[in-house]
Amino acid sequence: MEVIILPSAAEVGRVAAAKIASRVTEKPTAVIGLATGSSPQGIYADLKRRVDAGELSFALARGFALDEYLGIPADHPQSYLSVIRRDVVEPLGFNPDRVHVPDGRAADPEFAARSYDSAIAAAGGVDIQILGIGANGHIGFNEPTSSFASRTRVKTLAPQTREDNSRFFDSLDQVPTHCMTQGLGTILDARELLLVAQGDGKAHAIAAAVEGPLSSFVPASALQLHEHATVIVDEAAATGLK
Ligand code: F6R
Repeated sequence: MEVIILPSAAEVGRVAAAKIASRVTEKPTAVIGLATGSSPQGIYADLKRRVDAGELSFALARGFALDEYLGIPADHPQSYLSVIRRDVVEPLGFNPDRVHVPDGRAADPEFAARSYDSAIAAAGGVDIQILGIGANGHIGFNEPTSSFASRTRVKTLAPQTREDNSRFFDSLDQVPTHCMTQGLGTILDARELLLVAQGDGKAHAIAAAVEGPLSSFVPASALQLHEHATVIVDEAAATGLK
């Protein structure tokens, strides 16, 4: 695992975006694993700057989101379908037909979850997976005690995750209790992992993921098993590292 510590959150976005831009330049049809939340916003902003400058195009690229809430409509502003369209597809100029989000509204969620893994495999697998990390060490919505072999499936959100994500909703009780998330095994199948974290609220999780033992209590420690994982953090998120 390569760990890159940078002076600011803006630098984290810029350096991570440069890695994605080079993968898409090498392979315009690249499959990008997409994360939502605050952590990748700097990446998307820097990629948009490159697209607007005519340096980069996502027109042929494909995307698979990590996760989706259950129990809110597709057109809810905080559904990850809405967020991915608003934050990624529209600003970066992806073809919407080439960007997929787990179907949190499926009548048969278990079947939808299995189909999602099949669709990733049919696309040839993820070339580069963007990841944030929860304060409790989750990646995707694989909460502590998730199996390292898990595939896309329905999960219960941890109370801390619901509380952390309540900033996107009017109140805590509006935050969904369940989600559909790529499993740790699904994420580890990507050819390259790129995890970004900013701020001291992530310092403990980063230290446990990077320097702690492999543990299902710290799902992000699964990155230690991957042969091409990069963790890019600002100085605040690096304060727990030895
Ligand atoms: C989002 C996701 C989550 C977030 C994590 C950090 O698709 O899968 O693992 O990356 O909860 O969230 P932020 O970036 O909002 O701190």
